[in-house]
Amino acid sequence: MHCCTVGAVAEEMLSMIKADRQMVMAGSLLHDIGRSVDNGMMHALIGSQIINGMGYPEELADIVKKHIGAGLDDDDIKEMGLPPGDYIPRTVEEKIVAHADNLVSDNRVVGHSHSADKLRNKGAFRGADRMDALHWELSKLYGMDLDVIPDIIGEYPKLRWIED
Ligand SMILES: [Fe+2]
Repeated sequence: MHCCTVGAVAEEMLSMIKADRQMVMAGSLLHDIGRSVDNGMMHALIGSQIINGMGYPEELADIVKKHIGAGLDDDDIKEMGLPPGDYIPRTVEEKIVAHADNLVSDNRVVGHSHSADKLRNKGAFRGADRMDALHWELSKLYGMDLDVIPDIIGEYPKLRWIED
């Protein structure tokens, strides 16, 4: 349900933001596939390896690898014991999936402060600032503050894109 709700949020973003729709929707559905192996910070990297191993495009594996918060910087990577690499969402598809995930708590659509405040409460100030910056960057592309999304699609959206 979480992944489907992330998909519904991403789909709303796609109504205004030009991006590869198939890649964004596949990324939304598969972003947490690594949780089948590890529920910690490794799940994004493991998920990208699973996607790679199945022969799916590298772009999809990168969406999965870079979906934690608004990405991880080099200090985060060291702290978390992740292998070195680029964990920052850079393509618009990577940004949409990462941030749609930030706008979903379990299966409820929330405002971005919900996730940013959670990070600040944990002392992850750089990550929280990155999340705010990503929020405003995508809000600009969307043409409105993305925090309106729960008002548009509801806090528990109907998943019309999966029923098509
Ligand atoms: Fe995740």
